[in-house]
Amino acid sequence: MRNLLYLVFILSLFVSYNPTLCITYNYSQEYLFSKHLFYVEPPQTAFATDIKPISYPAKCDLKQLHSVSRHGSRYPDEIEIAAFESLEKTFANVSVAKEWYKNPFPMSKKLQLVKRGEIEPYFDGLQCRKRYAKFWDGVKYDPEVIKFQSTQTSRHGASLMAFSEGLFNGKGPLDTCKSQPIYYSTPPLLQDAEHYMFFACRRWNETVFNNNTLRDEQVYAYGNKTLVTIAKRLSDTHHISPPLDPNLVPYILINCQFWLAAFNRSDAWCSLLSPKELLLSRYYWDLRYYYQFLYGHPLNTRLGCRYLTQLVNEVEGYLNGNSSMIADIRNVLGFTLSILFATMGVFKNEYPLTANLTFEQIQNIKYTGHRLIYFSSTLYYEIYTCSDDRVLIRVVFNSEPFVVPGCESEYCEWSKFKEIFGGKIRCDFEKMCAYP
Ligand SMILES: *[C@@H]1O[C@H](CO)[C@@H](O)[C@H](O)[C@H]1NC(C)=O
Ligand SMILES: *[C@@H]1O[C@H](CO)[C@@H](O)[C@H](O)[C@H]1NC(C)=O
Ligand SMILES: *[C@@H]1O[C@H](CO)[C@@H](O)[C@H](O)[C@H]1NC(C)=O
Ligand SMILES: *[C@@H]1O[C@H](CO)[C@@H](O)[C@H](O)[C@H]1NC(C)=O
Ligand SMILES: *[C@@H]1O[C@H](CO)[C@@H](O)[C@H](O)[C@H]1NC(C)=O
Ligand SMILES: *[C@@H]1O[C@H](CO)[C@@H](O)[C@H](O)[C@H]1NC(C)=O
Ligand SMILES: *[C@@H]1O[C@H](CO)[C@@H](O)[C@H](O)[C@H]1NC(C)=O
Ligand SMILES: *[C@@H]1O[C@H](CO)[C@@H](O)[C@H](O)[C@H]1NC(C)=O
Repeated sequence: MRNLLYLVFILSLFVSYNPTLCITYNYSQEYLFSKHLFYVEPPQTAFATDIKPISYPAKCDLKQLHSVSRHGSRYPDEIEIAAFESLEKTFANVSVAKEWYKNPFPMSKKLQLVKRGEIEPYFDGLQCRKRYAKFWDGVKYDPEVIKFQSTQTSRHGASLMAFSEGLFNGKGPLDTCKSQPIYYSTPPLLQDAEHYMFFACRRWNETVFNNNTLRDEQVYAYGNKTLVTIAKRLSDTHHISPPLDPNLVPYILINCQFWLAAFNRSDAWCSLLSPKELLLSRYYWDLRYYYQFLYGHPLNTRLGCRYLTQLVNEVEGYLNGNSSMIADIRNVLGFTLSILFATMGVFKNEYPLTANLTFEQIQNIKYTGHRLIYFSSTLYYEIYTCSDDRVLIRVVFNSEPFVVPGCESEYCEWSKFKEIFGGKIRCDFEKMCAYP
């Protein structure tokens, strides 16, 4: 009996002082990707080259393509880098972090594309060419026929160029690579109601972004309930003093995301959090995102109306023979895509996202910005004309078609589509966004 107690004592000493046994976690990249924890797209799809051409109903032909992609993987933004600098200070004396506690992301690079992010949109372009092989067959670049646009920032412009390189790969006139020079336009940010509709909307800035009590209540409740617990666990385990600020916990996950995007490493910051803590950290971002860019605020369900309006105008222009444009290719923010989803009423969870969800409910959430909208995600609106005079539209996100609520199937009658979004087409954006 005494020997047994002695053995237990020795074993418990061994467990609590063996850092590799219980203090950090060793995740493979496959594991992290499979848990949908961040914006980085799994390499299997991001760099896929075995793309099958789409099939569609007989007697129909794809006539017009509207493509809206998110920019490629980027460097962190200003707030993220500042948080990483705070994490650097907090973890400076933590032994398990000694090889990677320093922030490697310089402020001068904020929001620019990382190398992976320059390559991803190129693959999106290659994949577009293969997926819509019949559509592109024989089409020569002409700025009146193929229109390129992006949000006015460097990461969007560069992503759009990379996409066009992939799309026209080897088909242009320039040098040995046969690149195709293209024209693209970028409206001034604060007037860009089609892509930058949130900050272009004063009411959104004042009520959804700045003074959003619904969001703040949920985010603070979650912080006091969940982030405080994780921060305490980390401070105790790693003897951090003064203790880790709970508000920095979600940035441990974000730091891990950028180490993966920029350095292809999954061993650094992610190794601090347990599988459950990784998901709980993501849910903090899910909550914020939901109240800022998804169904958590009713304004978001109308804010995408300018994009839909121009979509309808371009389709009608083509159908009535007044326009020769067949492809409209854009590069935008992840926020733009979520506003378009909220405006279309798609990807809505069965329950609202709140601070008091159980862990099981959090595990079962299907649609969140972080789960859904990878860097370099692609959204396509495909327009078909059929021999029985029908016009159909199909919407495809990251290669998966989805049914727009109100439509009978993924192929939706054009007239039905217009009817569903009646009030959101030709909306009065200025009036909607006037404040107060
Ligand atoms: C992590 O796991 C991999 C494979 O399972 C192994 O090769 C590696 O040595 C482990 N790293 C650490 C720090 O335990
Ligand atoms: C880390 O250790 C150094 C040297 O012992 C000490 O000066 C510093 O205050 C410590 N920093 C933290 C955050 O504990
Ligand atoms: C949003 O609101 C903030 C704070 O009131 C203000 O400083 C900023 O200029 C506003 N931005 C826009 C685009 O209206
Ligand atoms: C913030 O919103 C609340 C209502 O949601 C309102 O009472 C308050 O005046 C607003 N504050 C500012 C600074 O606009
Ligand atoms: C806890 O709640 C208070 C009051 O709502 C808030 O100011 C604080 O930021 C919250 N803490 C965290 C970590 O979210
Ligand atoms: C990234 O790391 C994974 C796993 O270690 C490896 O399989 C892959 O080839 C690496 N990718 C690049 C681009 O280096
Ligand atoms: C045709 O296009 C021109 C220029 O884009 C526009 O001014 C005109 O109103 C259009 N006509 C019809 C019938 O849509
Ligand atoms: C969870 O929070 C929401 C919003 O604050 C509230 O409406 C709901 O009743 C709460 N649910 C439970 C089970 O406490």
